[in-house]
Amino acid sequence: MGSSLFRPFENLVEIQVLGRTFQVPEKNTLLRALQFLDPAGVSYGRFCWNQECQFCRVSYVMKSREEKPPREILACKVWAADGMRIVKLSEELTWALRTCLKEP
Ligand code: FES
Repeated sequence: MGSSLFRPFENLVEIQVLGRTFQVPEKNTLLRALQFLDPAGVSYGRFCWNQECQFCRVSYVMKSREEKPPREILACKVWAADGMRIVKLSEELTWALRTCLKEP
């Protein structure tokens, strides 16, 4: 399973983005996983993909550690992990994911 855009993966993991649940590829950075949700939106975003621009900043908590305060990270630096709940997106990511995050 997979494509040249993604690192090889066999399974999907469950994450939440602003309260919506999605399945994304394991063994990929969070930014790449978000691109799995909206390939065009993330591709047209102004992302450097190498931890310089800061446009991919998100805040998240892990499902297993919800008592902890949200942690800020760069989505291009951290691996997507099962149980990750993203509670805040950068302006650029909000724009890039606008299609998959809009209300049904
Ligand atoms: S995409 Fe530029 S810092 Fe993550």
